Amino acid sequence: MHRRKDLWGPDAEEFDPDRFIDERLKKYLLKNSFIFLPFNAGPRICLGQQFAYNEMSFMIIRFLQHFSSISLDEDSAPPEAHPPAEWAQGEGRRRIERVFPKIHLTMYANGGMWLKMKEADNNA
Ligand code: HEM
Repeated sequence: MHRRKDLWGPDAEEFDPDRFIDERLKKYLLKNSFIFLPFNAGPRICLGQQFAYNEMSFMIIRFLQHFSSISLDEDSAPPEAHPPAEWAQGEGRRRIERVFPKIHLTMYANGGMWLKMKEADNNA
């Protein structure tokens, strides 16, 4: 549902978090907030939603306070962490994927998501 072009627009397949802050916010999400349902909606909506948002914001802010750069480390990643080679000729997201997303109970990065981070010089 979160990739439906009739709900999210022609670029629905793109991973582009800017859609939550630019003109697409008004055009799609604010017109119909029920199109965004990771926590579901209504009387049985996830009780931990605000907690989860807080926890994730806190973690991201702590990362940004301690590291001046965070990037994928494809050279250190084991072979199973790379997406299958044939994906490069595929359609949509698969064509540009640099990690190997898989689904179990939740989505995860097969073989891990290997990152390199540069410690920030907080004295500078
Ligand atoms: C990214 C993190 C999370 C996601 C995507 C998520 C998603 C969901 C979803 C889809 C439901 C089902 C709602 C329904 O049945 O209609 C749910 C229910 C629930 N979640 Fe979460 N959840 C997350 C984190 C948490 C956390 C951190 C807690 C507690 C600290 C929590 C507590 C609950 C509870 C108690 C329910 C049952 C609510 C009910 O049935 O009345 N969730 N969650």
